[in-house]
Amino acid sequence: MTSFWSWYISILSLGTIAALTWLLFATRKGQRPDNVEETTGHSYDGIEEYDNPLPRWWFMLFVATIIFALGYLVLYPGLGNYKGILPGYEDGWTGVNQWKKEMAKADEQYGPLFAKYAAMPLEEVAQDEQALKMGSRLFASNCSVCHGSDAKGSYGFPNLTDNDWLYGGDPETIKTTILHGRQAAMPAWKDVIGEEGVKNAAAYVRSLADLKQPEGIAVDLAAGQKIYQTNCAVCHGPDGKGLQAMGAPNLTDRVWLYGSSFAQVQQSIRHGRNGQMPAQEAFLGNDKVHLLAAYVYSLSQQAAHAQ
Ligand code: HEC
Ligand code: HEC
Repeated sequence: MTSFWSWYISILSLGTIAALTWLLFATRKGQRPDNVEETTGHSYDGIEEYDNPLPRWWFMLFVATIIFALGYLVLYPGLGNYKGILPGYEDGWTGVNQWKKEMAKADEQYGPLFAKYAAMPLEEVAQDEQALKMGSRLFASNCSVCHGSDAKGSYGFPNLTDNDWLYGGDPETIKTTILHGRQAAMPAWKDVIGEEGVKNAAAYVRSLADLKQPEGIAVDLAAGQKIYQTNCAVCHGPDGKGLQAMGAPNLTDRVWLYGSSFAQVQQSIRHGRNGQMPAQEAFLGNDKVHLLAAYVYSLSQQAAHAQ
C-alpha cells in the first residue's frame, strides 16, 4: 500500500483509540462518598435520569479493550505497512498470504506423494490404504457438499457407493467424470407429448421398475409405452436400462436420482432434468483427481463385495 494510505490508516486507528481513551477518562466520575443519588436534572414526561458513574467493572472492561487493541497493534501487522514485532508476518496480515504459505508447504510435503500415486494405475491406488486416506480427505473437503460425507448422495446428487452409474463405474470413466465434469441433458417433454402423455409415460416408466401404479388415477400403459419407444428409447434404451454414453439412467432398477413417486417421475418428464457435475481438472489438478477417482472407485468396490 502507498505510504499515504499507510499513514492514513495508522493515524485514523491510533487517533480513534486516543480519542476514546480521553472520552472515557474525561467523563469518569468517582462514586460520591455520601452515596446520594442525584439526577441529571433532565426530565422527559416525568421520567428522570440518574447521574451515576459508570460501574467500575464496566470502566475496567473499556480500559482492558484499549490495552488489548494497543498490544495487538504492536504485535501484529495492521497499522498500514507496519509488520508487527512477532515473526512470521513479513508478508502482512492477509489470509491469502497465510493460505498460500500453507498450500506451498503442503505441496512440498505431499507433492511427491501425489505424484507417486498419479503414476500408478487406478486399481492399484484403490488398494493402497494411505492413498485412500488421502482420497477420503480430499473427498470430504471438495465433494461432500454435494455427494454427502458418506458419498451416498441425496436428491439430485448421485450415490457414489452403490454400483449404479450414470456414466460408468470403471476407474478411468470415474476419473474422466471428475476431471471434466458432466452435464446431463434430459429434455422437457411437456410441450412435445402433452400433460396426458407425461402422465402415461410416467406410469409406463414406473412399470419398468415394477412400481405399483397410483390408485384412483387412470393411466394408459400402452400409450405410455408408445411414447416411450418413440421419444425416450434413444437415450434410455429400448428396454429402459439406460445409456451411459448419454448419462441417461437405468429406469428399470430402483435407484432414482429425482425420486420414484408418480408425482416426481412426472416432474422429471414434464420439465426435464439437468444435473451438473462440475469439472475439477483446473481446480484440483490431475494428481489429486487421480486419488479421488481411486477413492470413489474403492467405495463402489466395497459395495460390490458386501453384496
Ligand atoms: C456442486 C455439486 C457437486 C460437487 C461439488 C461434486 N459433484 Fe459429483 N456430481 C454432481 C452431480 C449433480 C452429479 C450428477 C450429474 C448428472 O445428473 O448427470 C455428479 C456426478 C458425479 C459422478 C458420476 C456418478 C455416476 O453415477 O456416473 C462422480 C463419479 C462424481 N460426481 C464424483 C465427484 C467427486 C469425486 C467430487 C469431488 C471432487 C464431486 N463429484 C463433486 C454434483 C457435484
Ligand atoms: C437426450 C436423451 C434423453 C431423452 C430423449 C430422454 N431422457 Fe430421460 N434422462 C436423460 C438423462 C441424461 C437423465 C438424467 C438427468 C440428470 O442426471 O440430471 C434423464 C433422467 C430421466 C428420469 C429421472 C430418473 C431418476 O433417476 O430420477 C426419468 C424419469 C426420465 N429421464 C424419463 C424419460 C422419459 C419418459 C423420456 C421420454 C419421454 C425421456 N426420459 C427421454 C436423458 C434423456
